[in-house]
Amino acid sequence: MVDQSMHLFRTMTPADVPAVMQIQARCYGVSMQESEAAIRDRLEASPDLSWVADTDGRIGAYLVAYRSRLGKLGALGAPFDIPADPDSLYLHDLAVDPSCKGQGLGPALVRMALRKADDESLPYSSLVSVQASKEFWERQGYAVWTDLDVRQALHLDTYTGPAWYMVNRLKPEATT
Ligand SMILES: CC(C)(COP(=O)(O)OP(=O)(O)OC[C@H]1O[C@@H](n2cnc3c(N)ncnc32)[C@H](O)[C@@H]1OP(=O)(O)O)[C@@H](O)C(=O)NCCC(=O)NCCS
Repeated sequence: MVDQSMHLFRTMTPADVPAVMQIQARCYGVSMQESEAAIRDRLEASPDLSWVADTDGRIGAYLVAYRSRLGKLGALGAPFDIPADPDSLYLHDLAVDPSCKGQGLGPALVRMALRKADDESLPYSSLVSVQASKEFWERQGYAVWTDLDVRQALHLDTYTGPAWYMVNRLKPEATT
């Protein structure tokens, strides 16, 4: 792992979106690309829950999240509801530019998100794992959660390839 002190981890701004689009294009196949409008909508809805790793002005990785409920997941590219009573920080998209992989940027962004979840006393964090990332997420404390209702489970089919709904129980008293 390289020295992470060379990276600045900060919240995403609208000016970062073009760089985010480029990383998305390098990390995902065409069927998994989200539109620039969808990414801007998520940022506008939750500006405090999107982060980038910035190295001398070059964006190397990003993480986009929003407040959600345990058992609710986003369909790819679809609008989403932010509940009035969230109990989960939903990590919608984590991507590290291929040139920056293996440097711990992904785990560092996840830690940043989980600190935010802790600040807000959210008992869970959740996500959909794609592109054979399940083991990576297990290393970050997430486990596959299979109690989805039929409607939510159908959202998994909007992703290309195997997709897993995963949950990280952040509070000992949280039940899953
Ligand atoms: C998956 C991803 C976020 C990992 O980010 P990263 O910053 O490169 O992560 P690192 O290489 O520093 O890995 C951290 C640890 O996870 C492991 N790891 C990384 N990718 C993994 C994978 N796909 N499966 C299993 N383990 C993985 C590493 O070996 C490392 O283990 P260690 O802590 O024992 O050293 C990154 O590869 C990526 O952006 N992939 C493309 C987009 C994507 O698929 N995102 C996830 C969608 S749910």
